Amino acid sequence: MLEEEMSVKPTRNKKLLDWVEDMTALCKPDRVYWCDGSQEEYDRLCQAMVDDGTFIRLNPELRPNSFLARSDPADVARVEDRTFICAATADEAGPTNNWMAPDEMRAKLAGLFDGCMKGRTLYVIPFSMGPLGSHIAQIGVEISDSPYVAANMRIMTRMGSKVLDVLGEDGDFVPAMHSVGKPLAPGEVDKGWPCNPENRYIVHFPDTREIWSFGSGYGGNALLGKKCFALRIASVMARDEGWLAEHMLILGVKSPTGEKRYVGGAFPSACGKTNFAMLIPPEAYKGWEVTTIGDDIAWIKPGADGRLYAINPEAGYFGVAPGTGVHTNPNAMIACAKNSIFTNVALTDDGDVWWEGMTEKKPAHAIDWKGQDWTPDCGRPAAHPNARFTAPANQAPSIDPDWENPDGVPISAFIFGGRVATNFPLAFQSFDWTHGVYLAATMGSEATAAADGQSGIRRDPMAMLPFCGYNMADYWQHWLDMEDKVGADKLPRIFRVNWFRKDENGKFIWPGFGENMRALEWIIGRCEGTAGAVESPIGFVPRREDLRWDGIVGFDVSRFYQIMAIHKDVARKEAETQDVFFAKFGDRMPKALLDQRTALLKRLEDAPEVWDLPRAEAAQ
Ligand code: GTP
Ligand code: SPV
Ligand code: MN
Repeated sequence: MLEEEMSVKPTRNKKLLDWVEDMTALCKPDRVYWCDGSQEEYDRLCQAMVDDGTFIRLNPELRPNSFLARSDPADVARVEDRTFICAATADEAGPTNNWMAPDEMRAKLAGLFDGCMKGRTLYVIPFSMGPLGSHIAQIGVEISDSPYVAANMRIMTRMGSKVLDVLGEDGDFVPAMHSVGKPLAPGEVDKGWPCNPENRYIVHFPDTREIWSFGSGYGGNALLGKKCFALRIASVMARDEGWLAEHMLILGVKSPTGEKRYVGGAFPSACGKTNFAMLIPPEAYKGWEVTTIGDDIAWIKPGADGRLYAINPEAGYFGVAPGTGVHTNPNAMIACAKNSIFTNVALTDDGDVWWEGMTEKKPAHAIDWKGQDWTPDCGRPAAHPNARFTAPANQAPSIDPDWENPDGVPISAFIFGGRVATNFPLAFQSFDWTHGVYLAATMGSEATAAADGQSGIRRDPMAMLPFCGYNMADYWQHWLDMEDKVGADKLPRIFRVNWFRKDENGKFIWPGFGENMRALEWIIGRCEGTAGAVESPIGFVPRREDLRWDGIVGFDVSRFYQIMAIHKDVARKEAETQDVFFAKFGDRMPKALLDQRTALLKRLEDAPEVWDLPRAEAAQ
C-alpha cells in the first residue's frame, strides 16, 4: 500500500512521523512506503526486483523462494575507510575510528541526501534488534531507498507493523537513514545495482544515537540494524548502561550428562563465527550437542542472579558463502536451502547457486558473480570471496530452543580467536579476568575479504576494531570494570583459540570445523573445573591428555606439541610491538593492560628459548 493510498498512517508515534516527514522533504522520493513485514509484502517486493532485474529467481525446485542478487563490482564489502564515528571530539572516537566534527559531517550529509531519492521509493522499515518486547531488545527504524535492503532486513531482523505496536505513541527508536545515493531522472531506470562508490559515507552520531549511510547498498554498509546499530551505536549504549555489545557468536553445548552451557565467541569478520556457532561434533562425541543462539552479534547483560546473560539481537544469518559446504557447515547449507537471498555467488545452468567450497565437484559451467560465463579452468573465482547468503535463523537445524528467550542465556566462557598462520597455540586460558581482557585486546588477525582494502595482519581487539563506537581504550576499561560490577566468580572464563596455523607448505595444520569441538570440550571442562591444564608464560594450556583425540580426522596427534610450542623470541617480539598500538591511546590507556604486558615480558624472560609442552608435562 502506498502512503498516498493510506488514510491512516500505521503509527501515531510523533517522533517517527516527524522524522519520516523531514526525511521525505530532504530526500524527495517519488513515493513513501511503510513496510508491514508480511510474507505477502516480501513476495511482492521480491517479484518487483525480479521484474526490474535486481533479483534472479532461483529454480523453485532446487532453491524454493530464493533469489540471487549481483552487486556492483565496486560495492562488495564493508568500507572501513569510509566509516565515521562523529562523537563530539576526535578523542572520544579514539585513534582506531575515523572522525569528523559532527557539524561538519551534518552539513556534508545534508548536501548528499538532498534530493537523493528522486525517482525512487522511500521505504520505512521498523525493526527490533532482539526478541520483540525483550528488556534487552532495542527498536530502530531504517529509511532506505533500496528494496534489496527492505527484503534483507525482513530476514535479518524482526521487521514491520508488530514493531510499531511495541513502539507505541511515545516509544523511542534509533533512526537509521540509508540511501544508495543515486537519484533517477524522470523515466530513467537502474542499469544494474545502484550505488555511488565515489561518495560513500557510513556515519554514526553516538551522542544522539543516529546512523546515516550513503552510497553503498551492501551488507554491513546498508543493513543498518547489524554493525551500525547492534555494534557501533549499541556499544555506546552498553558503555553508558553497564552491559556489552559484542561481535560474538553464541552457542550452547550439551554434554552426555545433560548439562548445558553457553559460550560467546569473538572472531574477526570471516574468521569462523558462523561455522563455530553451527558446529557438528565429530563421531567420537556421542551424546554431545552444539546448538546455535547467534552467529555474529551478542548483547550481554547481568541477569537477576548476577551472571552475564546474552541474546542474539538478529533474526537471520548474513553468512560468508565461500567455504560453506555440506562437509564444513551442513547446518548453514540447510539454513539457506530455501527462503534465502544470495549476493555475489555464481548461478548454475539449472538455476541454482554455487560458490567455491560448496561442493567438491565444480560445475562444468556457471555464470559468475559478475554475470559472465565461468568454467573451472577460466582462472577467475565463480563467487566473490565475500559473497553472502541471507537466511532466516530458525532454518538452521542447530537452532537452540532458547534462541528467542527474551532473558537471554547465561554465558560460561568468552572465546577470542583470530586468523594467525604462525606461532599461536590452538587454545589456552587466561590466568584471570584482567589477563583475559589483555589477551582479547591484543588479538591479531590476517586480512580477509569482509572489508575493502585490508592487507597483512592487524590488531583486532575483541574482533571489534571496525565496530566499536567509541574510544577503544575506554572500551577496554569498560571490560575491566565488569570484574567489580559482576564479581570475578560470576564472570565467564576467558580463552584464546586459533584454528588457522599453517605448515611449511601454507596448508592449515588443524582440521578445524567439527574438530574444533575438541577445544570446545576442554573449554567447557575448564569452566566446570574438570579439565586439566599447565601454566605457561601466556596462560593455562591443555596438555595432550587434556584433549580428547579418539577418531580425529585430518590431524596427526604428534603435531599437537608443534602447534602448542611457544617460541620465546616470537612471543617477545609480539609483546614488544604491542606498545606501538597501546601508545596510540595515550593517557586513556588502562594501566592494568600496560601492566599485563610488562608481566608477560617478565614471564618470557624467565622462560626457556622454546617453552614446550612435553617438558612441562614431564615436570608435573
Ligand atoms: P563474518 O560473517 O564476516 O563475521 O564471518 P564469520 O566469523 O562468521 O566467519 P565464517 O564462519 O563465515 O567463516 C569464514 C571463512 O572461514 C569461511 O570460508 C569458512 O569456511 C572458513 N572457516 C571457518 N571455520 C574454519 C575452521 O575451523 N578452519 C578453517 N580452515 N576455515 C574455517
Ligand atoms: C562482517 O563483516 O563482520 C559481517 C558482514 O558479518 S557485514 O554485515 O557486512 O558486516
Ligand atoms: Mn561479522
